[in-house]
Amino acid sequence: MPETSYLTVKNFDSERYHSVRPSYPQSLVDKIMAYHDGSCDELIDIGCGTGISTVLFASHFKHVVGLDPSDSMLNVAKEKFPEMSWANVNGDELVKGGIQPESVDMAVGGESIHWCDLDKVFQQVNQVLKPKGTFAFWFYVQPEFIELSREAHDLYVKYCYSDEYMGKYLTAFQRNFFVTFGGKDMVQKLQSYGFKDIEHEVVNEFTDKGLYTNTKTPAFLMEGTITLNDFLQFVKSWSLYTSWTRDHPGEPDIAEKFVSELKDACGVKTMDEPLKIEWATFYYLCRK
Ligand SMILES: C[S@@+](CC[C@H](N)C(=O)[O-])C[C@H]1O[C@@H](n2cnc3c(N)ncnc32)[C@H](O)[C@@H]1O
Repeated sequence: MPETSYLTVKNFDSERYHSVRPSYPQSLVDKIMAYHDGSCDELIDIGCGTGISTVLFASHFKHVVGLDPSDSMLNVAKEKFPEMSWANVNGDELVKGGIQPESVDMAVGGESIHWCDLDKVFQQVNQVLKPKGTFAFWFYVQPEFIELSREAHDLYVKYCYSDEYMGKYLTAFQRNFFVTFGGKDMVQKLQSYGFKDIEHEVVNEFTDKGLYTNTKTPAFLMEGTITLNDFLQFVKSWSLYTSWTRDHPGEPDIAEKFVSELKDACGVKTMDEPLKIEWATFYYLCRK
């Protein structure tokens, strides 16, 4: 399992995470629910964090439980959504964590399973799902500043993915996972763990010919505006940023350096100017 500051840094700022991270569009929830072919009794959310993904399914299932190995994240989830169920369970060890085999109608993971060992989590999800149960996982990769020059994208790649900067806290597997929207072997891997009817959507892959989307009516389109002040807080909510700050005490703040470089390179006048963004996103849907 890759090391993450969500778990290892005692003062990881889960409150900030909750206040600055985006939620997911209703169209994604609708897509997942339309795909689901079975009962709606039990849902588990793997790597639920502060509950941003979990709450979206509360009205669809009789019982929804958010699972995460980080007490810091779970404490915020409990405070924000006290009426819901939360448990400290690692995605790699669902059965050991108390989830019964063949007891779950749907397992979801929003922006989370890259922190698990994919072989373990896929095996575990398959074991706890009822026959025909749904497994849905999805990610936002990065915001694309659609009115700024490509330098905005290149700077994101430099600060988030390169070994020189915060990317050194990603494993090679994680970097490849994000850059290739799950990787070329994902369908085969899911099939090898017994999943079928696999659906995969990519939105806003960055290519030399512009942003590419593999469907005409994407269900997972995340768009809006963001100021550089908001973006700075978003970068500061990364576990990568917390790890960097822990390991570089006394150095200039890496998130501020990143955003200031982006501001200058792209000629953004102020930190409060609303900038149009579309997120690069992807999801996988499959069933047992
Ligand atoms: C980026 S957050 C996503 C939280 C939430 N699902 C959301 O959409 O905002 C990733 C979460 O994965 C959790 N995580 C890390 N390792 C994990 C593991 N092995 N199993 C399950 N969750 C894990 C972290 O603690 C963190 O809460």
